[in-house]
Amino acid sequence: SQAERGGYPHFMLKEIMEQPDVWSDALLGRVQNQRVVWREMGLPASVAETVRRIRIVAAGTAYHAGLVGKMLIERLARIPVEVEVASEFRYSTPIFEPGTLVMAISQSGETADTLASVRLAHELGVPTYAVVNQVGSTLARESDYVVYTHAGPEIAVASTKAYTTQLLVLTLLALGLADLKGRGRPDLVQHLLSLPHIGQTLLGQLESVRQMAESLSLKRDVFYIGRGLDYALAMEGQLKIKEIAYIHAEAYAAGELKHGTLALIEDGTPVVAIVTERDVAEKTISNILEVKARGAEAWGILDRQITGDIPVDHQIVIDTPDPLLAPAIAALPLQLLAYWTAVFRGEDVDKPRNLAKSVTVE
Ligand code: G6P
Repeated sequence: SQAERGGYPHFMLKEIMEQPDVWSDALLGRVQNQRVVWREMGLPASVAETVRRIRIVAAGTAYHAGLVGKMLIERLARIPVEVEVASEFRYSTPIFEPGTLVMAISQSGETADTLASVRLAHELGVPTYAVVNQVGSTLARESDYVVYTHAGPEIAVASTKAYTTQLLVLTLLALGLADLKGRGRPDLVQHLLSLPHIGQTLLGQLESVRQMAESLSLKRDVFYIGRGLDYALAMEGQLKIKEIAYIHAEAYAAGELKHGTLALIEDGTPVVAIVTERDVAEKTISNILEVKARGAEAWGILDRQITGDIPVDHQIVIDTPDPLLAPAIAALPLQLLAYWTAVFRGEDVDKPRNLAKSVTVE
């Protein structure tokens, strides 16, 4: 009913709009005196201190959160991380070096492939840690250690708030691990607390996403490009479009475009460029010029700090306190773009064809 949807026409929109509040829940009690409260992370310090390598396993949107997690953990804590889709990992013959931690990320905690991956790690005597939303789920019970994302129930099949809370918990984890290694970043920990407010402000300013969506709803293909964290975000952005708007979408590492995908850019092909990684912004901007030169319609999701002439046809400007904290913020316009595009196409937003909220059988 309308009441269950909090007055919104769809659960997805409700879940997008409640993200700032949910982010506060995910951060609650986990930050104190500019430090991550490590005991809240569910992984004993005695275990964390022995971790030399992390293998993340997950499916779908949770896999995309894992890609962001890898970059944050590697950059902040300097621990090498690999991310694999669970359906591949479970049938692989993983080589576990001493000091490996298997980390499973899942909203439902019931995804068959993710559970099988954790069971495989168990059999091989490797400790397992779950980043999960659903309290008391099978994954939470079967993993050695667990941290909850506290997103609350997510009803729409396309994941939104579960994803961004995964991003926040992975950021806390990266910052906490960094602290344990004497590489703490009190500045970033402090900035984390400002994300709910920044998200709230941004959500009130995204009317222009509707215009982009109206145009996108008439297209056949769309490409998402970015570098680093923006590439990981691009992958989640394209998944949302496929899932609910049924438009062919692809994410590309911006620098890899010229090795093939550039051939597909025609007059009017939309390209969504995400540019929050300040250090490589110039590189991505030159990639935007390349697609523009082939006739693309370029839409930018741009960090306000990136200035200069950015050759996009439409832009959404976001504020982020630091590029490492940009993903959850930049996810908001990407989610709304998918949402509005599906609405303009008249699709069943909350229950897309052929998809299930959680895939509990193979
Ligand atoms: C399904 C859902 C996705 C989700 C994936 C993993 O495919 O439709 O939205 O990302 O499963 O689910 P999990 O519950 O493990 O995060």
